[in-house]
Amino acid sequence: MSNEKFIIESNDVHLYYGKNEALKGVSLNFKPKEITALIGPSGCGKSTFLRTLNRMNDLIPDVTITGNVKFEDKEIYSPKMDTVELRKKVGMVFQQPNPFPFSIYENVAYGLKIAGMKDKAKIDAIVEESLKKAAVWEDVKDKLHKSALSLSGGQQQRVCIARVLAIEPSVILLDEPTSALDPISSAKIENMLLELKKDYTMIIVTHNMQQASRISDNTAFFLNGHLIEYGETRQIFTRPKEKETDDYISGRFG
Ligand SMILES: Nc1ncnc2c1ncn2[C@@H]1O[C@H](COP(=O)(O)OP(=O)(O)OP(=O)(O)O)[C@@H](O)[C@H]1O
Ligand SMILES: [Mg+2]
Repeated sequence: MSNEKFIIESNDVHLYYGKNEALKGVSLNFKPKEITALIGPSGCGKSTFLRTLNRMNDLIPDVTITGNVKFEDKEIYSPKMDTVELRKKVGMVFQQPNPFPFSIYENVAYGLKIAGMKDKAKIDAIVEESLKKAAVWEDVKDKLHKSALSLSGGQQQRVCIARVLAIEPSVILLDEPTSALDPISSAKIENMLLELKKDYTMIIVTHNMQQASRISDNTAFFLNGHLIEYGETRQIFTRPKEKETDDYISGRFG
């Protein structure tokens, strides 16, 4: 069934690592150009769920997944799905900045070159545009050919976001993207994400409640492999319906 309101739909997703059931029937849909925060205590399945949305769990041995996930109305676990294309459209940013040990320029140009783009002027333009969108251009424009590893953690993370943007995703998955960063770098990334919301759908895992309430439109609270509650962020943080959500956001556990 098509539903144009959502860019990603997941329905009754169960995921097992070997015999251990890490997701116990999660159904959650995402509207385009909104930011959704995934919150919940350590081990509740946030990263696992995030990875089901672009099939990153495929890379982990002995994983079994049941249920459905659709991206733009197409079943992503269908054998016909091209996972390379899927991961371009549904890009991912990790907790630890993970630039390649190449220059800043080569990091951002990498995906374009892999895709066969040869026009240097075009690549230059996309690199610049992506670094600007990722709010790191001013920091790096005079040293594009220096190693990305010479940058600060916050700059590296923004270069990693530029690397994802260069390949024109429509959805960006972010797994605790600022938890390794200082507050100023985190604030820069939060502001950038709010700016990017004009053009992208974002799903962000965070342990930082203030961050979730500052930047997200919707919040999903996970506990022990279950989606306990989903709603508008303001509602979740001010009037949660479930006792477990209330306990978590008020710091009684987690
Ligand atoms: N690669 C893996 N192999 C086996 N079990 C895993 C793997 N990754 C996660 N798990 C297990 O799945 C469950 C959910 O883990 P997950 O990493 O999704 O939690 P999380 O909510 O992201 O936690 P955190 O906040 O600590 O990052 C945990 O019990 C974890 O031990
Ligand atoms: Mg995690």
